[in-house]
Amino acid sequence: MSLITWTKEQFGTNVSLHDQEHQEIFRLVNLLGDAVGVGDRALIGKQLDALISYVAQHFASEEANFTKYGYPATAAHKAQHDELVATCLDLQKKFHAGEAEVTGETAAFVVDWLTNHIPKIDKSYGPFLNEKGMA
Ligand SMILES: [Fe+2]
Ligand SMILES: [Fe+2]
Repeated sequence: MSLITWTKEQFGTNVSLHDQEHQEIFRLVNLLGDAVGVGDRALIGKQLDALISYVAQHFASEEANFTKYGYPATAAHKAQHDELVATCLDLQKKFHAGEAEVTGETAAFVVDWLTNHIPKIDKSYGPFLNEKGMA
């Protein structure tokens, strides 16, 4: 079952690289949701690691373009990224230590974060990066 579906209307930034990365994040979130549904802890761990690793890679990709082109809203944007990464790394550490579980609530938190961050924060860089020649 899909927890989150990418549509251009809701999530499109008009920067194809980052739109593709967002679609890959959504694919990995849905796979994590599937693993939670199955209840296989080893599989949940594998999908959690894959999602967190890709999300960190994606944040670095956005931030590299902010730096490259001098995006003025970088600090506030990066602060949101850093906060999520810190939350994820803490959960990941606790999960693998057997001190925390990944549940439907965890997946819902990630879906909620993406549903806020991409339309409100990521979409804002679209016109700026388009202006710099990214499409
Ligand atoms: Fe993003
Ligand atoms: Fe972002």
